[in-house]
Amino acid sequence: MLNVGIIGLGKMGKYHLNIYDELTNANMAGMCDASEEVLGELSKRYPYKTYTDYRELLPHVDAVTIAAPTVHHYDIAKECLEAGVHVLVEKPITTDLAQAEELFNIAEKRGLVLHIGHVERFNGAVQELRKIATDPYLIESRRVGPYNPNFAGDSIVLDLMIHDIDIIVNMVNSDVTELQASGYSVHSKLPDYASVHLHFANNTTAHILVSRVTQKKDRTMSISQKDSFISLDYTSQDINIYRNIQSTQIMGNKELRYKNEYVLERLFVYKDNPLKQEIKHFLDCVSGQEECRVVTVEHELKSLKIALKIDEILMKDKGAIEVNL
Ligand SMILES: NC(=O)c1ccc[n+]([C@@H]2O[C@H](COP(=O)([O-])OP(=O)(O)OC[C@H]3O[C@@H](n4cnc5c(N)ncnc54)[C@H](O)[C@@H]3O)[C@@H](O)[C@H]2O)c1
Repeated sequence: MLNVGIIGLGKMGKYHLNIYDELTNANMAGMCDASEEVLGELSKRYPYKTYTDYRELLPHVDAVTIAAPTVHHYDIAKECLEAGVHVLVEKPITTDLAQAEELFNIAEKRGLVLHIGHVERFNGAVQELRKIATDPYLIESRRVGPYNPNFAGDSIVLDLMIHDIDIIVNMVNSDVTELQASGYSVHSKLPDYASVHLHFANNTTAHILVSRVTQKKDRTMSISQKDSFISLDYTSQDINIYRNIQSTQIMGNKELRYKNEYVLERLFVYKDNPLKQEIKHFLDCVSGQEECRVVTVEHELKSLKIALKIDEILMKDKGAIEVNL
């Protein structure tokens, strides 16, 4: 039985807690949060030992989830790894590439699992998508939702778009050769919506739209490839595949009619809680029952690298020319 702990029990840490609490192969050895108030509230519902300092938790655990604010990930993860503790750190691992590389180096040297919480990889529909989107040439991704002032100071790219970048980069498996980005603010000082084009060496293009100022939450991706059009809904985990599309014009009595026919395949996707799948995978890696990484470290850092580059463009350049037409 593995002894596990959680560091940071805000919005995301509580989701982790619910899942660890359900699992039978993990013993929750401690909940850690810098806030006594947060721990006080949780203690009313969970019987686990509490810590305000994560260093005191480390001698009691084999593995931890780090779900503290991103700015603390590097320091906390480094100390956990140096104490010989396996780490699942919420995304983004850090906001600095060199720091992320350093953490992976420490993990590798010590033979520890360092897993970044890219939960969408464990979405059943995304896993099916990998099998059928074998030759995409155009990818359109949309991740939009309403405004939450709590995230006003966070980059929309590291917060939302990194999920899509990660899925796309792993699906296309080719280098990015061209990047265009533009973003605008509505409520906060940072871009609240952004549009990005990635072009890959294998001639695939991806268009990603993210927004935190859209009243209707919508998380979808569509893929055009040679013989099919695939449409995926992350929330319902549904995948529709359109094939053999034929359009014809029919000349009737004084009217021209347009007919569009296709074969629609609705894919059956095994639906489970993606975070539960992710935590199970992490624990299986820790106990040596599963291959350690879903993707390579190089791929892990590739999505962060692209996300940071996009942020850099958005911060200093609108990615557009000024006109007055
Ligand atoms: N994978 C996803 O889809 C997803 C979704 C949301 C958030 N996240 C990530 O999860 C992380 C946390 O986000 P959140 O929305 O839960 O934040 P939050 O602000 O709701 O919670 C963070 C918690 O960490 C605690 N904390 C701060 N410093 C600490 C420290 N040094 N030691 C222990 N606890 C500390 C705070 O008191 C707070 O309770 C971020 O990195 C975010 O990017 C990932």
